[in-house]
Amino acid sequence: MSLQLGEIAPNFQSETSQGKIDFYDWAGDKWVVLFSHPADFTPVCTTELGRMSQLQEDFARRNAKIIAVSVDSAESHKKWIQDINEVGNTDVKYPIIGDPERKVANLYGMIHPKADDTHTVRTVFIIDPQKKVRMTLTYPAATGRNFKEILRVLDAIQLTDHYSVSTPVEWEQGDDVIVGGKIKTEDIDAKFPKGHKVIKPYLRTTPQPDLE
Ligand code: BEZ
Repeated sequence: MSLQLGEIAPNFQSETSQGKIDFYDWAGDKWVVLFSHPADFTPVCTTELGRMSQLQEDFARRNAKIIAVSVDSAESHKKWIQDINEVGNTDVKYPIIGDPERKVANLYGMIHPKADDTHTVRTVFIIDPQKKVRMTLTYPAATGRNFKEILRVLDAIQLTDHYSVSTPVEWEQGDDVIVGGKIKTEDIDAKFPKGHKVIKPYLRTTPQPDLE
């Protein structure tokens, strides 16, 4: 059973490509993107981990650390990183958890036996600084993920944590957002002085509040 939104992401200790970690100590007070891949030295995974390396600074700007996991060993990860760097023209600086005993995979429900009873599927967890699971996503082995979508979701979660708003379909930074349903239309101006539109009584929008 996979972890559900709102649950506390469990702690673990593991070998990684950068040595042994205690997950909570490693995470500190940052947001965490924990993502699994099926196996080292495979094509889709090689492109995915390279892309995450290219995006690591974008996650850091959002106060988020990234960490990968598969059921291969930490030693295997270390060798594979050379390929990831070469193919992705990058320099992987985030840890990859070695999980041959499936400790992390089972703790987080990353093995879906009816799809593949050996390897981790492609999951992503966004975990907040309080260690609460805020987003989960699962892709099949043959489909590479779009990690820019994870950045977009992280932006949306951080924005909606700070303001009484939600984000509409395919929202991107700078787009209008939806005014929270508990705010009466007559009170919107006081809360969101940049203006608002009433599209339906239940769908009121306002410019993104944290931008100049
Ligand atoms: C891949 O990364 O290409 C892959 C890994 C496991 C199963 C299928 C594809």
